[in-house]
Amino acid sequence: MTILDGKATAASVKQSLKVEIETLAERFGRAPKLAAVLLGNDGASETYVGAKVRSCKEIGIESLLIRESENISEDELLLIVNQLNTDDTVDGILVQLPLPKHINEERITLAIAPIKDVDGFHPENLGRLVLGVESYTPATPLGIMMLLSQYKINTEGMHAVVIGRSAIVGTPMSLLLSRNSAPGNCTVTLAHSRTKNLKELTLQADLIIAALGKPEFLTADMVKNGAVVIDVGITRVEDSSSSKGYVIKGDVNFTEVSTKCSYITPVPGGVGAMTIAALMKNTVHAFIRRNTTADI
Ligand code: GUN
Repeated sequence: MTILDGKATAASVKQSLKVEIETLAERFGRAPKLAAVLLGNDGASETYVGAKVRSCKEIGIESLLIRESENISEDELLLIVNQLNTDDTVDGILVQLPLPKHINEERITLAIAPIKDVDGFHPENLGRLVLGVESYTPATPLGIMMLLSQYKINTEGMHAVVIGRSAIVGTPMSLLLSRNSAPGNCTVTLAHSRTKNLKELTLQADLIIAALGKPEFLTADMVKNGAVVIDVGITRVEDSSSSKGYVIKGDVNFTEVSTKCSYITPVPGGVGAMTIAALMKNTVHAFIRRNTTADI
C-alpha cells in the first residue's frame, strides 16, 4: 500500500509555480493577484482562507483578503464582487463558501466574472468543463487529478465510484474521470444519498472517491483488495482530549481501509493540500489568460 502524499506533492507543484511566477512577473511587469472574500468568523472557513493566503505569499502571488461581517447584505456583497471584477490588478476572485443563509449563493457565484472565477463554480466554467474546453476546474477535483498524475496511476478502464454529487466536487470529479485523457478514461458511477446497495458498487470499484462529508463512512468491508481510495472528507469532530476541542476526520476509515487498498490519501495531508495547490494553479492560469487573451 502506498500513501498518496498530498502535502509533498502540493509543495512540489507550488515550487514549480513559484518559478513560473517569477518569469511571468518579469514578462508582464507585475505578479498575479488573488482576492478572497470571507464573511463572518466560522473557524473552518478561517482556516481554509488563511491557508490560501499563506500559499499565495509562499509562491509570489499577491493576495487581497476582504473580511466582512456575516450580516452584510446581498447587495453589499454584490458591490464588492463587482468592484473586484472591474479591478484590473485582480486576476482571481473567490468568495469563501458557505455563505450566511440570507445570501443567495447562486446570485453571488453568477456575479463573479468567469475569467476571474478561479474556483470554477460559475455556470460558464462548469459548462466549459462539460464540453472539455479551456476553463477553470474546481480546485478539489483538479487537485485529485494532479495527485493521480504525480503517482502515475493508470486509471484507463477503471471502474470509478464517486460518492457524493456536489457541484463543487462529486459532479466535476465524475466528468474529469470519464474524459478521454490521462488520468481519465474511467467508467464512472456517481453515487449519492439515494443510491441503493452502495456497498455492491464500491466492492466493484477500482477507484473510490469518497466525497460525502460523513466521517469514517467508508469501511474495509466496502473496498475491494487493491483499490485506489481518495478521501475528500474533512469534518471537524468534537474531541475533548484534543487541545483544539476537535479532531479532523476524513470520509474513510483509514486504519481499516489502508490494509486493503493499493493507494490511499491520508487526512490531513492528502486532498486538502492538493486543493490549495490547484487553486494556486488556477490563479496563475487566470493571470496568463488575462494578460494574453485579446478579448478580455
Ligand atoms: N468552501 C469549501 N470549499 C471551498 C472552495 O473550494 N472554494 C470556496 N470559495 N469556498 C469553499
